[in-house]
Amino acid sequence: MEVEQIEKKTLRVAVLVSGSGSNLQALIDAREQEQLPGVELALVVCNRAEAQGLQRALNARIPAVYLPWKQRVEAERKLASLIELFQIDLIVLAGWMRIFTPEFSSQFPRRIINLHPALLPDSGQGNTYTTSNGTVIPVFRGLHVVEAALAAGISVTGSTVHYVIPEVDAGPAISHAEVAILPDDTADNLHERIKQAEHGLIVEAVRQYRLK
Ligand code: GRF
Repeated sequence: MEVEQIEKKTLRVAVLVSGSGSNLQALIDAREQEQLPGVELALVVCNRAEAQGLQRALNARIPAVYLPWKQRVEAERKLASLIELFQIDLIVLAGWMRIFTPEFSSQFPRRIINLHPALLPDSGQGNTYTTSNGTVIPVFRGLHVVEAALAAGISVTGSTVHYVIPEVDAGPAISHAEVAILPDDTADNLHERIKQAEHGLIVEAVRQYRLK
């Protein structure tokens, strides 16, 4: 067999952001440090014109599109066209603050992954998570989950990379990072530590996805 035939094709990735884009930056840095062989950051889509994430994409010379999200179905139609036009294999939601319709997400089974700043069960289903030291903690889905973990008085939270399915924050998990909650934590500094853990987590998840 010819070498070209057995080599895996490049994984073309779209990263969707709404805010600061530090996880996008982690992917950009990993690419620059040649830690993501066979991965092309082919497109960034952002629903907020002033988001830092959009600027990070432009600085890195990645095609970047501002896609306002006023009419969801119309916006999703445009997003699906971009995915096709840029021949995207994998869609990474990295701080993407919009929920897709089931019609949209079901078009891309196992092709959309999301970073969620709390620990979600392996199966995606259920309301408890067992940490690596055997502590059972509640599962926090939706918005303000860092605040919720802090308010629950638990000692560990973290982040999950998971597949996106129509049900919000309920798709099968790909990987987790646990982060200790410290006595003096505020939501802001806890979220900052979670993001530090996420930067390695998302790079590894994309690398592993390419190897599948
Ligand atoms: C991350 O904590 C991610 O888990 C959540 O939004 C945050 C995005 O951070 N969904 P950034 O924009 O990548 O800095």
